Amino acid sequence: MALDNLRALLDALDAAGELRRVARPVSIDKEITEIADRCMKAPGGGPALLFEHPALTGGGAASMPVAVNLFGSERRMTLALGAERLDDIAARITDLVQMQVPEGMLGKLALLPKLAELAKYPPKHVGGTPPCQDVVLRGPDVDLSRLPVPICWPQDGGPYITLPGVITRDPVSGVRNVGMYRVQVLGKSDVAMHWQRHKVGAAHWRDMAERGETMPVAIALGGDPASIYAASAPLPPAIDEFLFAGFLRREPVRLAQAVTCDLDVPAEAEIVLEGHIDPREPLVLEGPFGDHTGFYSLADYYPKVHITAVTMRDAPVWPHTIVGRPPMEDYWLGHATERIFLPLLRLTLPEVVDLHMPAEGIFHNLVFVSIDKQYPGQAYKVMNGLWGQGLMALAKVIVVVDKDVNVRDAREAWWVALNHIDPERDVRFSMGPIDVLDHSSRGFTYGSKMGIDATRKWKEEGFTREWPDKIVMDPGTTARVDAMWKELGIEL
Ligand SMILES: Cc1cc2nc3c(=O)[nH]c(=O)nc-3n(C[C@H](O)[C@H](O)[C@H](O)COP(=O)(O)O)c2cc1C
Repeated sequence: MALDNLRALLDALDAAGELRRVARPVSIDKEITEIADRCMKAPGGGPALLFEHPALTGGGAASMPVAVNLFGSERRMTLALGAERLDDIAARITDLVQMQVPEGMLGKLALLPKLAELAKYPPKHVGGTPPCQDVVLRGPDVDLSRLPVPICWPQDGGPYITLPGVITRDPVSGVRNVGMYRVQVLGKSDVAMHWQRHKVGAAHWRDMAERGETMPVAIALGGDPASIYAASAPLPPAIDEFLFAGFLRREPVRLAQAVTCDLDVPAEAEIVLEGHIDPREPLVLEGPFGDHTGFYSLADYYPKVHITAVTMRDAPVWPHTIVGRPPMEDYWLGHATERIFLPLLRLTLPEVVDLHMPAEGIFHNLVFVSIDKQYPGQAYKVMNGLWGQGLMALAKVIVVVDKDVNVRDAREAWWVALNHIDPERDVRFSMGPIDVLDHSSRGFTYGSKMGIDATRKWKEEGFTREWPDKIVMDPGTTARVDAMWKELGIEL
């Protein structure tokens, strides 16, 4: 059964022994960060946390609890997405994309139900008052300082909403986007929207600003866990995240009309901030913010969203995450994407066997990829192919190894890669777009990339020496030692 909202996720985490409730008052001013950081660094991602009595920055009790680290382990990710294993979701996607249009009428008919699988669960509009509008505060009643929006790190520019689904619409195609972009609270009813230039929300805004049109924006907190995850997933702009969430859930996401802007919002959200961007207004300074990289991202200019309404459930819960020096909760959201999107990557790069982005690489800084090498130069084909795919364009270092290397084990991948390279021969530099958060590139969002071909080199690639085998014990000896192991009295 798919989980419909945040409280259902909290109940499921509780039942699985994955949730710790903190009854003691804890300040939203950095104390939640310090506690959550210690948990996220614990083996396996630590527990999810529900701060039942958060204290507001100026003192006084917050009107709602704050939940953190809900997605911070593989187990919690699978619980949230209602799957036994992330690879089961990947298998469903493989199933979809591996279909080739069969010949003949009967074959085509057989295909129909499979295609329908993708669009089987389109978002459903609900009538009446949706749960997310149990309470509606409009205009002068909007006061964001009454919400428990935490201040994460000492040099942060202010309080930050960190786990939102930011809903916008393409002014031309009408396709909706839901993106997880941090939001800085600037005042009673103003926020700064940190959608980076490579992201879909930012593209919508550029288009609307060019047309001089006021842009409606909704910021949803909570809702069904698959939708929360989908907001962080790098889906192509033509795919609505709520449709994808429906596919993950095998049940439609329920939507309702926002009360002050022309957008649909998740009916099951805990809280929704509705608003708009005025294209005539100057950008506002956003940041600094202690970021995914483990360093502060510097202050920069982003659009201001005027909040026209805050709607809430009765007794809402504030969903929150922190980012910072890895590993953090975001690693697990990214890890789900890595697993779920592998089949889509293989559509254009079928030689890819596996791919892994270790936590220390903050998603795009380091990508290990193993390939089934069939011809010389294939490692270069794969790195160039990856740099041409969606947000993979931001990958800074790509290391390509042969298919027998377990890339999910970074120590194994580095061990093999460092053995296999002649640096001057096997390392190539390229140029391209760089992640907004990268503080080292020569220009803002522009810089170099490194591709390392750590596959075995072939004769055609100019390698004429003999290539040695990896050391592996012969099965006979392994079996004999297995049989005698208990008698040896060695405990490891
Ligand atoms: C916790 C968290 C916070 C994020 N914050 C931002 C952000 O502030 N700005 C941004 O552009 N991307 C941010 N991202 C990454 C985007 O959510 C991700 O790139 C997503 O694919 C964007 O959606 P889009 O492809 O629809 O633009 C964040 C991701 C996570 C997991």
